[in-house]
Amino acid sequence: MPTLQTTVDGIALPNPFVIGSGPPGTNANVIGKAFDEGWGAVIIKTISLDSSKVTNVAPRYARLRTEKSREVIGWQNIELISDRPFQVWLDELNMLKDKYPDGRVIASIMEEYSKDAWVEIVERVQATGVAGFELNFSCPHGLPERRMGAAMGQDNAIMGEVCRWVTSAAKVPVWAKLTPNVTSIAAGAEAALAGGCQGVAAINTILSVMGVDLETLRPEPTVEGYTVPGGYSCIAVRPIALRMVKECAEVIRDRFPGRSLSAIGGIESGADAAQFILLGGDTVQVCTGVMKMGYDCVKRMGEDLLAFMAKHQFETIADFKGHSLQYFTTHADLVRRQAEAKAAAKLKAAEAKALVTKDGQWEGNDFVRQTESLAR
Ligand SMILES: Cc1cc2nc3c(=O)[nH]c(=O)nc-3n(C[C@H](O)[C@H](O)[C@H](O)COP(=O)(O)O)c2cc1C
Repeated sequence: MPTLQTTVDGIALPNPFVIGSGPPGTNANVIGKAFDEGWGAVIIKTISLDSSKVTNVAPRYARLRTEKSREVIGWQNIELISDRPFQVWLDELNMLKDKYPDGRVIASIMEEYSKDAWVEIVERVQATGVAGFELNFSCPHGLPERRMGAAMGQDNAIMGEVCRWVTSAAKVPVWAKLTPNVTSIAAGAEAALAGGCQGVAAINTILSVMGVDLETLRPEPTVEGYTVPGGYSCIAVRPIALRMVKECAEVIRDRFPGRSLSAIGGIESGADAAQFILLGGDTVQVCTGVMKMGYDCVKRMGEDLLAFMAKHQFETIADFKGHSLQYFTTHADLVRRQAEAKAAAKLKAAEAKALVTKDGQWEGNDFVRQTESLAR
């Protein structure tokens, strides 16, 4: 019988399905709902010491739908980090610890470029008993104006330095959440892991413009007639996320064996989760999927992942984590393999043709060789 139970960086999880930082983990009420429905862990909406600097707008989401079925496949948000006061969060984290002693809460945190601020937020939050930290180096909109989020994640030297500040103060595992809005996410993973993080999480949202309304000529989502580029998520980003997760997994395999990877981006089913684990994910995070389908989708995802594991006789997540990385190679190698396969197929066809299976195939000019090919 396969099992979804897994242990990542010493954190025992009932399953690898983790609520990704965002609206589905934005207060104790919804975090409790996630545990009730069976999520393996919850990453809270990103918090900072001073929420008074956070002001959200409405609307702040825009969605891309397929033309025929109207299914939502792309989701842009211009939402900032949590606007709830830090002390309220500390109280709720303490309360969750009492109410859900087995629930795994991972605190997503973000601060400005100040060692004191990062150390303070780590110390005060870890006193509530969180299982780990996720450092938000990747929010692509709003916060970069304050040199936070993606602005830090796009500077590997600064990100590495902040990781060192945090890991020297943290007593629980720390994951760095990476931005896809860079030329090389592998270099970001390398900087964070060299900075002492136990793991990396990827991807956050991709900077995007959802579209332009052809009546009003205004780009969307429109707030008082104006907008800013926002973060793109949901099914449409999955192929890009798979590629970036694969690149992070290779960094871990080749340079930091034993470190962890939390895979994110357009995951909505057990089959999606299986693919991210095959490319090296220890856990899989779901954010937009929960906003579309509700918290109970974790049950279906878990059942589907178990069915996949049973089909391939994988007993544990570790049995197939990273299995498919071995099938990536260079284009030159693809060309060589194809030429070899074609040559082998040609030889096989020639051999098959030469073998006499019906008496009408005997040929006068080839008679001796045909006889030879039938001899033992
Ligand atoms: C509305 C919304 C708000 C988000 N807020 C945060 C956040 O506060 N911190 C963070 O690290 N990621 C945030 N994210 C990014 C998600 O955690 C996730 O990395 C991204 O959306 C891709 O995964 P998905 O396709 O499953 O949503 C947010 C995403 C959405 C859609």
